[in-house]
Amino acid sequence: MTEEIVKSALSNVTYPGFTKDIVTFGFVKEISVSGSDVSVTVDITSSAPEVAQQITEETTAELKRAGAANVTVNIAAPKMPRESSSKGKNIAPQVKNFIMVSSGKGGVGKSTSSVNLAIALAMQGKKVGLLDADIYGPNVPRMLGVEDMKPEIEGNKVLPIKAYGIEMMSMGSLMEEGQSLIWRGAMIMKAIEQFLRDILWSELDCLVIDMPPGTGDAQLTLAQSVPVTLGVTVTTPQTVSLDDSRRSLDMFKKLHIPIGGIVENMSGFIAPDTGVEYDIFGKGTTAPLAQEFGTHILAEIPIEPAVRIGGDEGKPVTYAKPESETAKRYMKAAEDIWAQIEKINEEGGVDNNAIQPNTPPGVSACSTAAAPQQSEQSSGESCGTGCGCH
Ligand SMILES: Nc1ncnc2c1ncn2[C@@H]1O[C@H](COP(=O)(O)OP(=O)(O)OP(=O)(O)O)[C@@H](O)[C@H]1O
Ligand SMILES: [Mg+2]
Repeated sequence: MTEEIVKSALSNVTYPGFTKDIVTFGFVKEISVSGSDVSVTVDITSSAPEVAQQITEETTAELKRAGAANVTVNIAAPKMPRESSSKGKNIAPQVKNFIMVSSGKGGVGKSTSSVNLAIALAMQGKKVGLLDADIYGPNVPRMLGVEDMKPEIEGNKVLPIKAYGIEMMSMGSLMEEGQSLIWRGAMIMKAIEQFLRDILWSELDCLVIDMPPGTGDAQLTLAQSVPVTLGVTVTTPQTVSLDDSRRSLDMFKKLHIPIGGIVENMSGFIAPDTGVEYDIFGKGTTAPLAQEFGTHILAEIPIEPAVRIGGDEGKPVTYAKPESETAKRYMKAAEDIWAQIEKINEEGGVDNNAIQPNTPPGVSACSTAAAPQQSEQSSGESCGTGCGCH
């Protein structure tokens, strides 16, 4: 036996749930060969015991087929994800943790970051859902290459669409292509609630939620409907974008959502031919903002053509090009996010009770009894209690 034969045998072992093998993923860390005895160490990102077992069995079988007599497979796996300890209202109780991906302004890479973080978390062994809560501009189905798929219906519930090891639901998957809808505030809230209540999400370790840009009804409804474990803000390095990001971070604070960090997207440019990184929009400008809110930068994601192509063609870069700098940075950000989620749950979890509409029993949140400040509001605005009236 030689190391080359071992590697070639291991490239027949696909990583459970994916189409790629453990060598391509870079999970094979050590190979030692002594005569016909082979020992390999596989460093996997999943904590699920069945993943370790399947890899051990397939690795052993492939190596024996290639001529090994004795095979030792050492699997290094992260510890099991912890249960959520969150309190308050949760209309999707089968989901343990919720990650809200937000930004003060549009087009900065929320959907790109949501998709890649969700896939990175799944590649690290978490059971992940991705909710495209951008009702006006749902882009996630295309980014996952499932824009032509319609979800199955079970009873009066809708099954999420599966892609790249995650579950996904989006208004784009429910509407006909190119159709646009005019949404009023109350309808947005209803839609967000239905996405959480009427979609048959599995028992998920986490649901990543791609929010519409800004700080409006959708964000408030979401935070009132489920205890959001962590908020992630996406920004680009230009100062104008940072101003908007401050609003997004401030919203997390007001909604009592722990801030997980900032993804600084379009941070530098990596030339595809040389791999050299250039500074275009400026980079590293986000750090002072992070400091102001007691948080940190989760990742500096460069402008890389592979990111845009991945989005347009439905092949997210984290999955399709795991060796790219961007993929590595999203993987690291996902680890960081998960470590924070575990810590938050160890310390008692989050609680959204304090942001519920303030309604005395038997009184509508929109009635004057519940909302004396209503008289100060001009007509056409909500009463300010978050009840959804307009
Ligand atoms: N790091 C990057 N490198 C290259 N292209 C990128 C990068 N990040 C995002 N893009 C591209 O920029 C466009 C906008 O990104 P995306 O749709 O993720 O932004 P968004 O914040 O979700 O926008 P919206 O506010 O409209 O929902 C997409 O075409 C995406 O592929
Ligand atoms: Mg988007």
